[in-house]
Amino acid sequence: PRVGVVVVAAGSGTRLGLGVPKAFVEIAGRSILDRSLDAVRGLGEPVALVIVVPSEAVAPTTEMLVAAGTRAEVVAGGTTRQRSVALGLAVLPDTVETVLVHDAARAFTPTAVFERVVAEVRASGHGAIPVLPVTDTVRRVSERMCGETVDRSTLAAVQTPQGFPRAQLQQAYDEAADDLTDDAALVMAAGHPVSTVDGDASSFKITAPDDLRRADDLLRRNAV
Ligand code: CTP
Ligand code: MG
Repeated sequence: PRVGVVVVAAGSGTRLGLGVPKAFVEIAGRSILDRSLDAVRGLGEPVALVIVVPSEAVAPTTEMLVAAGTRAEVVAGGTTRQRSVALGLAVLPDTVETVLVHDAARAFTPTAVFERVVAEVRASGHGAIPVLPVTDTVRRVSERMCGETVDRSTLAAVQTPQGFPRAQLQQAYDEAADDLTDDAALVMAAGHPVSTVDGDASSFKITAPDDLRRADDLLRRNAV
């Protein structure tokens, strides 16, 4: 395959607070990880899929994938998201030219977002990330005091999958100085431009307990 997808699912889900790694929390009978893979399963072109999970979850995840008929390489993650991504990148096959990095916690990202990111990376020769406009008024604050309002039109909320030419992403990870949660920030620090494509509201990241309610609502709406 010429496209590689690294799905990071090795986080502990502290903010969700269920005492289970977040990707293995079930929503209406299927894990967040399994649901996040539906977008990849829907892609028209073959991809090399790498799934990064907590080390104790490698064996059960492999079993889940066999049962689901999904081919993927499963590897153990690290203590930070950045380390988990690096461990996933390390096992991509040589044929891969474009790499997408996706949060398993975004369980409902539509396939179309993956397709838009791949198309933009191929057309531009550099990175592409899905974004949504910011709807709230945003203000700077300091020591609980209000600062200026920031012009919303200059802001965007960033989602995943974030896609890059493999060589640029690998260079960025090889040179990474800080531990960042955003792949585009690393690639830009390595000197490469990154453009944006339209994200999707269903691609919200399941982070806090309220997000599970949002997930249930979304499933109920799609079931009718
Ligand atoms: N992630 C990972 N390895 C880590 C930390 C995070 O693979 N060491 C993954 C998570 O599994 C998730 C994505 O990165 O799919 C985004 O991270 P986040 O939403 O912060 O998930 P958690 O780190 O699990 O949650 P929390 O920060 O609340 O503990
Ligand atoms: Mg985290």
